Amino acid sequence: MWKRNNLWAGRALMLLITALVLALSVAGTGALRAQGGDERARPLPLDASPSQTLEDILARQRGEKVSNDIRRQFLGTDLTPEAAREQLGILGGASDPDLWRRIRFNEIDPTVSARGPVEGVLIQDAGMRWLEERTTVARNGAIGLGGVILLLALFFLLRGRVRLETGFSGVEIPRFTEMERISHWLLASSFILLGLTGLWSLYGRLALIELIGRDSYATVTALTKQVHNNVAWAFILGLVMVFVQWVAWNLPSREDITWLLKGGGLFSKGVHVPARKFNAGQKIVFWLVTLLGTSVALTGLSLLFPYQLPIFDRIYAFINAAGGLVGADPGLPEGLLPVEDMQLAQLWHSIIAMVMIGVIFAHIYIGTIGMEGAFSAMGRGKVDRNWAREHHSIWAEEQEKAMGAAEDTPPAQPVE
Ligand code: HEM
Repeated sequence: MWKRNNLWAGRALMLLITALVLALSVAGTGALRAQGGDERARPLPLDASPSQTLEDILARQRGEKVSNDIRRQFLGTDLTPEAAREQLGILGGASDPDLWRRIRFNEIDPTVSARGPVEGVLIQDAGMRWLEERTTVARNGAIGLGGVILLLALFFLLRGRVRLETGFSGVEIPRFTEMERISHWLLASSFILLGLTGLWSLYGRLALIELIGRDSYATVTALTKQVHNNVAWAFILGLVMVFVQWVAWNLPSREDITWLLKGGGLFSKGVHVPARKFNAGQKIVFWLVTLLGTSVALTGLSLLFPYQLPIFDRIYAFINAAGGLVGADPGLPEGLLPVEDMQLAQLWHSIIAMVMIGVIFAHIYIGTIGMEGAFSAMGRGKVDRNWAREHHSIWAEEQEKAMGAAEDTPPAQPVE
């Protein structure tokens, strides 16, 4: 009875962790989808005026949305580019609100001296939305990661460390080669550096600048930016090396279903579920690291080479076209401004990074304090024979046969 309740409690916890990770990504993605919104004009009330009212300014300061319906219709009379060129000459103290409203609502194409993919974008409406969404990602990210840590702490308190129930046999089985471990630690160390410097760039200004003062903040930020931009290459290399060496071991197999249904035996004592070199839980980590890692690397490259890799414009066009083939209309915005593409890349990059950090928190937990005997697999490349039999019994049997040691000890008995 006790084992049964424990198993259900375990399943509930697993569902909760999954739900939390999912919530994280939905919260962020919801913010992204909003960026394509549009605010076209309605008929003007008689007393309409383009000027900002005190109420507008206060509402913006409260973070509320203020409609631009009226203001975008007060664009002045002479809309010719020549008028703009003339106007952009030396104006001294004079300022032409109609001209700036035309610029603000992309109603004219001013000639500017700036050169490059963002020339002519003097005011960018989506910029404000991007800032709001970045704050949403930061807030939801902190809640999500805090939640993951809390759940792991709860799991540790309730379940305790996954002990080696048959004890250490003292006989070791090789588990990872030198090259596998080098690849893993290249990936792991670069990810941890990228995670820390990335979190700094997201939370530094939002939460820490007042704490450490502007000068130190500027120094640390300059340093973390260099680390982040350069360590990215080590991460990409580590990801490729890990993928190439482990993809064959991470293809789905029959045992995975039983493993998942039994929660891998992680939630109840005395339950050991047969598994190959990587069990279903590790295969999920592998594919999450591969897919999320690739996504965070691609958006990272798009940020590293500003305006040269417009990823989202191409993805949106592809999704719209693919949708069109099956009669659906995804309605994603196309013809994104280069700066808008960068903003989407930045938001997606931080959302995916947050999800990955949450997953890796759980991975580090199980790879260190969470499971007795696990760390030596990646620390020294060897594991105790009983550890292998309890957690990877099918792989252990193959290894022991290969090592010609199977005869002298009976194989571990999986629980029916
Ligand atoms: C201090 C940090 C870390 C520790 C202590 C750690 C520990 C481990 C251990 C012990 C294993 C082998 C498990 C086994 O024998 O089956 C492993 C495997 C693995 N690690 Fe890590 N790891 C860390 C960070 C990372 C990071 C940051 C990533 C990716 C960004 C990562 C990706 C993987 C993958 C894909 C595997 C194979 C699948 C799995 O076992 O989940 N690791 N790690």
